[in-house]
Amino acid sequence: MDILLNDSIISREDLTIDLEDRGYQFGDGIYEVVRIYERQLFEWEAHAKRLEYSAKELMISLPVRIEELYQNLLKLIKKSSVSVGYVYIQVTRGTAPRAHGFPENCKPNLIAYAREMARPLMKMKNGVRAVTADDIRWLRVDIKSLNLLGNVLAKQKAIEAKAEEAILIRNGIVTEGSSSNVFAIREGKCFTHPANHYILNGITRQLVLRLLNEIGVAVEEIPITKEELFEMDEIFITSTIHEICPVIEIDGVKIGNGAPGVLTGKLQSLFDKLIF
Ligand code: PDD
Repeated sequence: MDILLNDSIISREDLTIDLEDRGYQFGDGIYEVVRIYERQLFEWEAHAKRLEYSAKELMISLPVRIEELYQNLLKLIKKSSVSVGYVYIQVTRGTAPRAHGFPENCKPNLIAYAREMARPLMKMKNGVRAVTADDIRWLRVDIKSLNLLGNVLAKQKAIEAKAEEAILIRNGIVTEGSSSNVFAIREGKCFTHPANHYILNGITRQLVLRLLNEIGVAVEEIPITKEELFEMDEIFITSTIHEICPVIEIDGVKIGNGAPGVLTGKLQSLFDKLIF
């Protein structure tokens, strides 16, 4: 596998991660997952903007300019021969003897790699099951940081229940999925949690909001309760990896008639038109 290390491409065998990399010891870093369709980076500008936002919020300075990163990622995709898949980009604060505070003169470490991964076509067509789980994460999940234990534990709960996703509940309110955003539709109106410190403002979420606006569907970016989830006609999750995926059952209870919803299907076909 080929790896982008700051601004050079090396092979995985030649990559060394230092014992005292702060990403490794403190989770002190940020990441992005960007879809590759037809060898191109999908929604790159939005991902780049979010990477810069995460870096700014954590006071990490990106080691390369965004335009340079983009060109390097295209080279990486070509070298890795990935046609449909994703690129993972990670930036840590750098390497220094272990101490909680920011070290002086610490140079950030950037790595990226590309992997082939098919679109989840069957899940998108048939829908998936979800479970609810407590949102035990910290209060700045708007930053795409490497600290994912709350997400990891929630996803594991879903996996053990043979479900695809865990829908996170904080103080009775639906925030988002363990690795996705959650949308709900009732009587033709669409609800999703507002983009604040309690959710990651997904790039797919932002795209879906644009599509909803284009087709004239009323959207309310307001929190809904766990109880309201079960009164919805349609629910779907969005992410770079899941795209737009219907949720047909939550905690063993059918949503709507237990089949993927009509509006969800319409959004999926509009999304399809954008990617190829
Ligand atoms: N995760 N919320 C959380 C907690 C996420 O981890 C993700 C994506 C999203 C959706 O964001 P986007 O549409 O930009 O992918 C929302 C990525 C894919 C991951 O960690 O693998």
